[in-house]
Amino acid sequence: MPISDVGVEGSHLIDLPVVADPRGDLTFLEGQRHVPFDIARVYYLYNVPVDAKRGGHAHRDLQQVIFALSGSFCILLDDGHRKAEVMLRNPRVGLYINRLVWREMGLFSQGAVCMVIASNPYDEDDYYRDYDDFLAAARVNAS
Ligand code: TYD
Repeated sequence: MPISDVGVEGSHLIDLPVVADPRGDLTFLEGQRHVPFDIARVYYLYNVPVDAKRGGHAHRDLQQVIFALSGSFCILLDDGHRKAEVMLRNPRVGLYINRLVWREMGLFSQGAVCMVIASNPYDEDDYYRDYDDFLAAARVNAS
């Protein structure tokens, strides 16, 4: 499971296995093996207009791994000190996003499908939806 750092606190790319077959490729993932947490939730975005912006938040505790199952999109990451932009387009490559990392998603291709593997059930209280609140929490966390 090769991984590569993307330059923002804890975030990295995860390369999943592929079982190549003339009948079609198969990729799989297991909690605590291919993603570094127990999987509590899976959700996906689809029917996304090409000019849509998603995200615009960070999380107190949640860890996620994001995949482009089809098509492509861009994710901007920000840990309060450093920023990075990652383009996802390969369904076997996921982006792990740690807690306390702001993310914004855009540049969706027509028909893109974004799948998210999450460490916790949905909890609105886990979100920082205000950038300045996030920044204050990230800086306290880093000190
Ligand atoms: P949000 O996480 O802000 O979406 P994105 O980051 O992709 O732009 O969630 C959008 C709405 O969907 C918000 O009202 C909360 C709701 N939602 C759930 O009810 N359950 C979930 O698992 C998720 C991810 C969102």
